Amino acid sequence: MKLAEIRKKFLKFFASKKHALIASSTLVPLNDPTVLLTTAGMQQFKPYFLGERDPIKDLRSRRLASVQKCFRTSDINEVGDLTHLTFFEMLGNFSVGDYFKKEGIAYAWEFLTKTLKVPTQRLWATFFKGSPAGKKNKFSADQEAFEHWQKYLPKNKIAGFGPEENFWGPPGKTGPCGPCTEIHYDLTQTPCEKADACLPNCECGRFVEIWNLVFMEYFKSTSGEYSELPHKNIDTGMGLERLAMILQAKASVFQTEAFTKIIQKIETDPRFGLTGNSLEDSRRLRIASDHFKGAVFLRADEVRFSNKEQGYILRRIFRRACDQYLHPGMDLSRPVRAVVREYQEVYPDLANKQAEILADFQKEYLAYEKVRNLNLQVLLKQLPPEGILSQIASPEGVSKIHITGKAAFQLFSTYGASIDQLKQKGFEFAEAEFELEMEKHRTVSRAGAESKFGGHGLNSAALSDVEREKITRLHTATHLLQQALRDVLGETVKQEGSDINPERLRFDFRFAEKLTPEQIAEVEEIVNEKIDGDLPVTFQEMPYADAIKSGALAFFKEKYPDPVKVYSVGDYSKELCGGPHVERTGQIGEFKILSEKSVSAGIRRIKATVA
Ligand code: ALA
Repeated sequence: MKLAEIRKKFLKFFASKKHALIASSTLVPLNDPTVLLTTAGMQQFKPYFLGERDPIKDLRSRRLASVQKCFRTSDINEVGDLTHLTFFEMLGNFSVGDYFKKEGIAYAWEFLTKTLKVPTQRLWATFFKGSPAGKKNKFSADQEAFEHWQKYLPKNKIAGFGPEENFWGPPGKTGPCGPCTEIHYDLTQTPCEKADACLPNCECGRFVEIWNLVFMEYFKSTSGEYSELPHKNIDTGMGLERLAMILQAKASVFQTEAFTKIIQKIETDPRFGLTGNSLEDSRRLRIASDHFKGAVFLRADEVRFSNKEQGYILRRIFRRACDQYLHPGMDLSRPVRAVVREYQEVYPDLANKQAEILADFQKEYLAYEKVRNLNLQVLLKQLPPEGILSQIASPEGVSKIHITGKAAFQLFSTYGASIDQLKQKGFEFAEAEFELEMEKHRTVSRAGAESKFGGHGLNSAALSDVEREKITRLHTATHLLQQALRDVLGETVKQEGSDINPERLRFDFRFAEKLTPEQIAEVEEIVNEKIDGDLPVTFQEMPYADAIKSGALAFFKEKYPDPVKVYSVGDYSKELCGGPHVERTGQIGEFKILSEKSVSAGIRRIKATVA
């Protein structure tokens, strides 16, 4: 059974159980400072689990299902084995205060054993057996899940585990979470030397976890306190690649079509330099194919190479993929095209962005080559004496140099040398210390970004005057766009996010459906009409409360200074904003919508430009 068929069967099954089918959100979560990337299907539904929004109003159902693009860095060092991946697709069904444990388990069982016809004797389940005595947060055993499972499985195939295995979430420091039950597949049906103690989660390789069902009923606060959520929810996640591996009777996820063609392109590239050491070669092929695929998907979701946050993750996996090649001058188009070809039907964005992805990869590859060529001695000279802890000569005469995590971070931020590269060059350091420096750096840069209120980074020295002016025009166009969308789609339309660069504006807003070509044309026409009207743009300063009373639009997640500036475009639009704007709309130029798509549950994204 191919990936495409599994996705289809999953969605069809849950549609038949009255679930609304929701498209995958982007890999960069919207308005969620608790995480860098989307690691689970539940993330786009967080406002519903937390009771902040009503799913009926936004999505017309309390039952939801999706196939979600996910990216996890937690398993990055495991990639190279048979089942771990960074990028993967998660099949998930969700209940927001609708069905709970009984139906959650029943649906999973029916889908696996009836729809997919997975043999029941291969399946095992786990449940939460409660938190260990003496823990601050005491949760009792999930007797209810244990009992529901007994309808389907003999008791000896239902195993209880503690919070490490069977309490899930939240994905960041804070958020919804709860006990879970997992379904594992028995690959070998042969216990290891542990005999009866060889159960799911055994590390011998007998079992693979395929589906996690979370009974999401708690909220964990930043200070680590748990409280009850407003309703009881179901959040499930099943790895598409692992399921394909089982259904196709393959020994690893890399032998399914999620990888075979990508691997083939890398394998047949002479630059990869197969060494004849087949175990090591397969490991390198798995790492390269996983990381290239992840890099393509991250870049397609607008992550840019950098030394910070998502950009650093992209940089790290891309460089690690390149590290698997033994000869320089590799042809990046081979793996990139293979990924695009395999996935473009499900994710059409990939094909549209192939050229820009490739161009970016090539630039990054050149930058990377430069760092690769820097030798250890040159790097060493850049470090202050207190950064160097010791130098050890190995039997081969190559020095191992022990440096502080802080020094390693310094080499990283100056040269872009990744953890892996520094290690390859012979540096040793505590990764945790490096990460700590990274975290400090992150906090500082976040604080910097937040203080740039309304300025769209206009003060950046990297911008030319022409670019600054273009951004200003796009900014005023954004105000017109928001009002035009409200005119055409209704007053519920509200900004969820906005981003402007010299090429385009990006505007995210809440709306349940895809816009029709007519609606897009109408919005465009209204904005251009207001531009042709050459309306004056003015602002007034007033207390925040007065601004809201006057009906000015505010982006509720933003922290505003008080008093605030209220910008008016003629008497057409009125918004709280820090500026800057053009003086008259006639200066904006012709407005054009470039694209419109869904980025998260109930949230649409428009990209537009002015000429
Ligand atoms: N959110 C759960 C997981 O990621 C289903 O495992």
